[in-house]
Order: sequence, then C-alpha cells, then structure tokens
Amino acid sequence: MAPDPVDSASGRPDVSRSLSERLGEIVGSSHVLTDADAMAGYLTDWTGRWTGSAVAVVRPLTADEVAAVVGLCADEGIAICPQGGNTGLVGGSIPPADASTPAIVLSTARMTDIDEIDTVGRSVGVQAGVTLAALDARASSAGLRFGVDLASRESATLGGMVATNAGGTRMIRHGNTRSQLLGIEAVRADGQILRRWRSLVKDNVGYDVPGLLAGSEGTLAVITRVLVRLVPTTGATVVFVAAIDDVSVALALIDAVSDAGLTTEAAEIMTQAGVDLVHDHGVRRPVSSPAQFYVLLEVSGPHDAEDVVLQVLDGQPGVVDAVVEPGPARDLWLVRESHTESIARSTTTPVVKLDVSVPLRALPAAFAELAAIADDDDCRPILFGHVGDGNIHVNLLDVAEESVESLTDRVFRVVSAHGGSISAEHGIGRAKVAWTGLGRSAVDLDTMKAIKTALDPAGLLNPGVLFE
Ligand code: FAD
Ligand code: MLT
Ligand code: ZN
Repeated sequence: MAPDPVDSASGRPDVSRSLSERLGEIVGSSHVLTDADAMAGYLTDWTGRWTGSAVAVVRPLTADEVAAVVGLCADEGIAICPQGGNTGLVGGSIPPADASTPAIVLSTARMTDIDEIDTVGRSVGVQAGVTLAALDARASSAGLRFGVDLASRESATLGGMVATNAGGTRMIRHGNTRSQLLGIEAVRADGQILRRWRSLVKDNVGYDVPGLLAGSEGTLAVITRVLVRLVPTTGATVVFVAAIDDVSVALALIDAVSDAGLTTEAAEIMTQAGVDLVHDHGVRRPVSSPAQFYVLLEVSGPHDAEDVVLQVLDGQPGVVDAVVEPGPARDLWLVRESHTESIARSTTTPVVKLDVSVPLRALPAAFAELAAIADDDDCRPILFGHVGDGNIHVNLLDVAEESVESLTDRVFRVVSAHGGSISAEHGIGRAKVAWTGLGRSAVDLDTMKAIKTALDPAGLLNPGVLFE
C-alpha cells in the first residue's frame, strides 16, 4: 500500500486525507465531504445544542458501499455516526465533539430506493434514507400508508425512525416503528451485511434481531434497508379540539369516544402556553375560550361520527369549549404540529427537550408536577404530548447552561417516582446518557452493554450515544 500522504503544515502523515481518498474510491470522491462548510449541516443537530467533529461526511448509495466504508473504518479505528434526516432531538445523529476521536458521519441521504409495494401482504422494502413523506406518497397510490406519522415527515428517514423506534401521533392506533418492522438489512461493525428479509407476520426462529436494532440509535449496526408493514389509509375521520380544565378530562374523552363506538386515530394534549406560543407564530387558535389544556382527538367510525362526537362532548364534564371538523383538518393539526418549530424559534438558549412517559393513571399528577418544576427557575416550560400514550414532551426554554443538568435531573426523578420512562420516543442519544441507569436496572443495563460489546467490540458505532 502507498505510504500516507504528508500534511505540509505539520510534516506528519495526513491520515484524514488518505482516508478520504480511500473512502472516495468506495463511494465516489464527490460523495466524501471534508470541507468545513460542506460538512457543517451534518455536524450540528436539529436543536442546535450539539455540534460534533468529523474527518469526513460519507454518502454511500448501496449496502455494499456501506459495508466497504464500515470495513475500512474498522481497519483504521475510525468511529461511525450513522445519520438519516438529522431530525433527532437527543444529539444521537451527531459525532462526538472531541476531535481526538476520529469519526465520520455516514449519511444515508442518497439511499432512497423504494421497492414495489406488496399490496396483498401490505408491505414494502425501502432503503434507509427514504423519508417518511416519500414512503407515504408512494404507498398512497396503493391506498396504503405507513402506520407511524411524525411532524418531521419531510426529512425523517425510515432508517432513522427504526434506529430511534419513533412513536409519533398515530402510535395509539398502530403502535411504534418497531411494530411496523418485518425485516431488516444492516451492516455490522465488522463490515458484514446482516439480512433478515421475509414478509411474514409469524416467524419465530430465535431472537428478534430487527426488533433489537429498532431503538438501537446507531450503536449496533448501520441500517441500510427495512421491510415494513403498511396500513390502509383511514377513510373519513373527524378531528376535534376540546378546551378542558384538567388532564383527566382528556383521558375521559378517549374512553368516551371508544365507548361510543369510535376508533381513536390520535390523541394529543397541549397547554394554554403552547397554544399561545404557536399563535404568536401565525397559527390559528383552535377555540376562542381560553383553557388550561387543549386535547386534540382524531376519530374514525360510522358515517354519523360527527354527531357521535358532538354527543360525547356534550356529555363530558370539564369540556369548556370545542371545535369539530371533518378530517384531515390540517389547520387544527397545525396547532399541535407547530409546537416543535415554534418552541425552537422562541428560546434564547437551545431548548431542553425531555420526552417522558408515565402510566396513564399517574398522568394528571405527573403533568402538574412537571409543569411546576421550572417555578423557581427563570426558564419557561411548554408541555405537550401524546396523551393517549402517557407521553409528555417537557420543553424548557431559556435555560441557563449551568441549569440544564439539574433541571433535567428533576424532571427525570418526578417521572421515575411515578414509575415512568425517561425516554418515551426520542431515545437517549447524547442528551440523556448520564441518566440511562435511572431508566434501567443494573442487570438490565449490563445485558444491554453485553449486546453492544458482542456486536461492536471496538466501540466504533456511535460512541458516546446510549452509553457513556
Ligand atoms: P437522525 O436524526 O438522522 O438520527 C437519529 C438516530 O438514529 C441517531 O442516533 C442516528 O445515529 C441513528 N440513525 C439514523 N439513521 C440510521 C441508520 N441508517 N442506521 C443506524 N442508525 C441510524 N420523534 C418521535 O418519536 N415522535 C414524534 O412525534 C416526533 N416528531 C418530531 C417532530 C419534529 C418537528 C422534529 C424535528 C422531530 C420529531 N421527532 C419525533 C424526532 C425525529 O424526527 C425522530 O427521532 C426520527 O425518527 C429521526 O429520523 P432521522 O432520519 O432524522 O434520524
Ligand atoms: C412531537 O411529538 O411533536 C415530537 O416528539 C417532537 C417534540 O417533542 O418536539
Ligand atoms: Zn412526540
């Protein structure tokens, strides 16, 4: 092999340049970015809290190219940070900031193939870099769609959604991303391609490897292709937003629509502060009466679903005001879906995003305790979330850097006291590594670490994510 080229300034071997040349031989030199400006967008996360350092951003096209890139990095001891749409909210899609850990970002941006849809088995295989919006656009031609939906749909990729086991607004109806997964193709840390690819809903030959990779946050393998279920597009739906005086009323409404024979497609909660904030960014108010909380429900059912909804609302104590519209009611959904963007644009410091869940019976108490956590701090809390899943998004705005850790700790201790989870859907990433042990017992954590060590003994896949 030719000797490494020498860096003219330092006189030392220029390892990164020779590496980028070899990466270029695999993926094409135009798909290896080393210029700081070209790499910038891949090195800072969506919230702006985390910025990493990389010797290159590499954009392969095929699983074979990914395998060759991973194999080269394994030989050279270079860490790999897999990245899809970079919409993750916990800093997991960004390489370590410490430049002494040489790392590449492996972007799936060019891996956008979608296979023929299996309309009988209702499934499709897609490359990891396919966005949710692109998958839904293709599936809709067959009267189908993906069972998980996120406001980040235009950028979030299937590879990223599987790696984070994304939840989203349809979780109450169809489950999380892991539940949609039938098969997977992924490149292991040793560069070998693992492929389990059968569109069978029943297949019990040993461990659920696709399920294990779901939620692994890029720490166990690089996902290159996924085989997922599709669900029929929902027919007519009714969307309503009710202004309510207590979180328990939201839960009562979910029960009431079900008792009335309707199917809940989505159930989201917002607060007055959140609705005010998105209104400041040009989004309509759902109803004119102010209230402490607002619950948005989308329901499907018989043709008279709207009448059924009106009866339910009429009979439900604690409903202050309500608006009912035929689905998809994008303007009502915009009130909920604009929260993330409006919050990010309204904070003086990167927003502290904590994504927790508690058992439904504990939801009203936990919601009140979490809202009060910022009382003796100058930060502003905005809470919202997927109420039917017990999932509360705690967003803390204007948090001074020195308070991030203590506020995070207080939120997680409230959640733990209620028997909840410190990560309902966004994952651990870099943001919550210090608290992984709060969410899992010592033996459980040890089991996870054993899996990590078995699959990635050199610790080159997303170091610093999930484990310290
Ligand atoms: P990235 O951000 O690129 O990566 C996320 C993680 O997955 C990283 O750890 C990365 O290393 C890993 N990864 C990515 N691709 C691969 C791969 N091919 N192989 C292995 N590992 C990989 N999340 C929810 O769960 N529910 C929501 O409702 C929701 N709504 C959102 C709304 C907005 C406006 C935004 C900005 C984000 C939202 N998110 C939500 C978070 C985010 O969109 C999801 O976590 C999504 O699944 C990330 O996909 P991505 O392609 O952007 O992944
Ligand atoms: C959502 O439900 O909108 C997402 O999880 C994003 C967020 O928490 O901001
Ligand atoms: Zn969410």
